[in-house]
Amino acid sequence: MSKRVLITGGAGFIGHNLCRRMLAEGYEVGVIDNEFTGRREDVPGECAYLKGDIRNTGDLAKAFDPAPDVVFHVAAQASNIRSFGDPRLDIDVNIQGTINVVNACVERGVPKLVYAGSMTEYGLMDRLPVNEDAPLRPISYYGISKTAAEHFVLSTTRRPDLTAPFSATVFRMFNVYGPGQSLTNPYQGVLAIFIGQVLRGEPCTVDGDGTQSRDFVYIDDVTRAWAAVAEPGVADGIAINLGSGARLSVNDLVREVCIVLGHDPKAYPIEKRPLRPGINCIRKRISRAPAMSSAGRRKSVSRTASRAPSRGRKKRAGRPPDVALVRHEKPTDEPPGIPPVFFRSAER
Ligand SMILES: NC(=O)c1ccc[n+]([C@@H]2O[C@H](COP(=O)([O-])OP(=O)(O)OC[C@H]3O[C@@H](n4cnc5c(N)ncnc54)[C@H](O)[C@@H]3O)[C@@H](O)[C@H]2O)c1
Repeated sequence: MSKRVLITGGAGFIGHNLCRRMLAEGYEVGVIDNEFTGRREDVPGECAYLKGDIRNTGDLAKAFDPAPDVVFHVAAQASNIRSFGDPRLDIDVNIQGTINVVNACVERGVPKLVYAGSMTEYGLMDRLPVNEDAPLRPISYYGISKTAAEHFVLSTTRRPDLTAPFSATVFRMFNVYGPGQSLTNPYQGVLAIFIGQVLRGEPCTVDGDGTQSRDFVYIDDVTRAWAAVAEPGVADGIAINLGSGARLSVNDLVREVCIVLGHDPKAYPIEKRPLRPGINCIRKRISRAPAMSSAGRRKSVSRTASRAPSRGRKKRAGRPPDVALVRHEKPTDEPPGIPPVFFRSAER
């Protein structure tokens, strides 16, 4: 008898591609989706489809009957930008909805759940590439909700009171792209946004100067990885980054899209939107708004340098020491093996 997978959010971009993959792997596929962004017509006809909501435990009870062998929990409010306008939705769908799905798995004795985590759980990354043990410091409400849900999922796998085995794998996915992505949804991936803009003859909108880079991972690589962990005993109880491992700048991405769609990338109109903080508000509302720019930096460097310990060198009166000298010159009285830390200690 074939195994059964239930895919929440199976009508969305990643969800309906997972439906195809799991049918090809010989699974029976069930889908629950409330069609918030997903489209029923994208779901292959062989799937058992339920228009239902993961916030509603009655809908989930129907979707879990009969109990699947594995649940792919993909449904979510999936937009960073939208999360700022309606954080309640992220709490209800992404956090409470996930708790409902996890509870349904536990109640029905489903042995495995795979959860759609997100790179946004990392927030501002100190280092690239970012590894799974990096701190999770999300900066969007969406990222916060995905992180909280991940904790609920993984904590449940460690609950000592469960009578039936329950395991889970989390994929923290990077920028997923590929066929089936909406070209009109402004909240979907940046590649689809650029393709849509170029096809409609609109300028490409780039945030900042476009030198920032992203990891783009192809949808088939994503669905292959999900299928690989569908069985209990594979990658249980952990969160795994799911990216391509390569980085591409936003400018290069625009260039590629233009070339593939037959446009000269040098001539194609690009609308750059500033990333620098706008400080009009503080200027208008507060009398002591920040006023220093390059003059402030010069002043700061001179002051820092003048406080640096001289380490045996005579201070030149009336003029701060040369910064390059303070930083690099090795003093003659320094015992061997002590690192040249003057500049750092002067900063404190
Ligand atoms: N696309 C990416 O690059 C990316 C990256 C990292 C993580 N993710 C995560 O992957 C998942 C899928 O993302 P996507 O890009 O396919 O987005 P999507 O919007 O195309 O898919 C989400 C699906 O969930 C459904 N849904 C939303 N609320 C629901 C609810 N209350 N009940 C039932 N169904 C509901 C939507 O109708 C849609 O079909 C999301 O969990 C998202 O957070 C996506």
